[in-house]
Amino acid sequence: MKTIFSGIQPSGNVTLGNYIGAMKQFVELQDDYNCYFCIVDQHAITVHQDPQQLRKSIKSLAALYVAIGLDPERATLFIQSEVPAHAQLGWIMQCVAYIGELERMTQFKDKSQGSEAVSAGLLTYPPLMAADILLYNTDVVPVGEDQKQHLEITRDLAERFNKKYREVFTIPEVKIPKVGARIMSLQEPTKKMSKSDPNQKSFITLLDEPKQIIKKIKSAVTDSEGIVKYDKENKPGVSNLLSIYSILANVTIEELEQKYEGKGYGDFKQDLANVVVDALAPIQERYNELINSDELDQILDAGAEKANKVAFKMIKKVEKAMGLGRKR
Ligand code: TYM
Repeated sequence: MKTIFSGIQPSGNVTLGNYIGAMKQFVELQDDYNCYFCIVDQHAITVHQDPQQLRKSIKSLAALYVAIGLDPERATLFIQSEVPAHAQLGWIMQCVAYIGELERMTQFKDKSQGSEAVSAGLLTYPPLMAADILLYNTDVVPVGEDQKQHLEITRDLAERFNKKYREVFTIPEVKIPKVGARIMSLQEPTKKMSKSDPNQKSFITLLDEPKQIIKKIKSAVTDSEGIVKYDKENKPGVSNLLSIYSILANVTIEELEQKYEGKGYGDFKQDLANVVVDALAPIQERYNELINSDELDQILDAGAEKANKVAFKMIKKVEKAMGLGRKR
C-alpha cells in the first residue's frame, strides 16, 4: 500500500478553502493509502501565535480531522510537536537546502515583504515541511495549489540528499485536485481564500453558523453581468462560487450553468448557501461531540505513538547515512 502524508497549520480557523483543496481529498484517499495527517503546529510558530489560542486551535483542528470523516483506525492523526523527529530531520534538511533557493520561495517573499522582524523560521519553513513528508516514505502528498512549490523543493532536497549520501528517501508526488485546488476570497476573488485574512467576510470557516454562511455568500463579490457562467478570467467571483457549489453538491459546473440559465445571482447564491450549510452541518455536529471528549486525546496519543515509531526509524537511517553519532 502506498503512503500519503499531508498537514494543516493550526493557525486560526479552518476554511472552506482548506476543506475543498485538501481535507476532502484526505477522506476520499484514506481507503486506498496508508495515511498520515498531521497538525503542523511547529509550522504555525514561524509567525507569532498566542499560546492559549494555539492550544485551542490544535485541538480544534484535531477534532475537525475526525469530524470530516477521517477514521483514526485507518489514518494516523497526530500533532507535529509530539513527534520530535520532525524537528530533528528539519534541521538536517536545512543543512541540505541552500539559502538562495529558500529566499526565492513565493511564500517567503509574500510573508516577509514589508515586515521588519521576519523570523528565521519563515525562511527555513520548506526544509521542515520536506522533513514532515520524507520521514514516512511518503509516495503522495495531497494539497491545494499553493503548496506546489513546497513540494517541488521537497523533491529537490530529497534527490540532493540521496545523491550526496545514499538512496534513503522516497521521492514524493504532489496530488492537487482538478476543481477547487485554489478557492478564492469571497470579497476579492483574485486572491486566495485565507484563514489569516483580516476581512472575516472573505472566508467561510468549517465552524461558521448557518446565518453567517448565508450572509457571507450573499455578500460575495460577483459582477454586474447577471449570468451564471464559468469564466475565471472575466468572472472570477462567479467562477469561484461555481467551483464551491460543484464540489460540495457533487455536480459538474456545466450542469450548474444549465440549471441557472436565465436566472440571476439571487437564486444561485441562495441555493449555494443551502449547499454549504448542508455540507457543514454533519461536520459541526460531530465536532461538538468530540471537542471536549477523552476520545480525541486517545486518538492523538495513539497517532503520536505510531508516527514516532516510523519517524524514529527514518531518523536513525538518515543519521547513519550521514555519519552522525556513533555507529550502532
Ligand atoms: P495550510 O495550513 O496553509 O493549508 C492546508 C491545506 O489547505 C490548502 N489550502 C487551500 N486549498 C484550496 N484553496 C484555498 N484557498 C486554500 N488554502 C489552503 C493548502 O494547499 C494545504 O493543502 N505548508 C502547509 C502545511 C504543511 C504541509 C506539510 C502540507 C506543513 N508540512 C507536509 C503537506 C505536507 C500549509 O501551510 O498549509
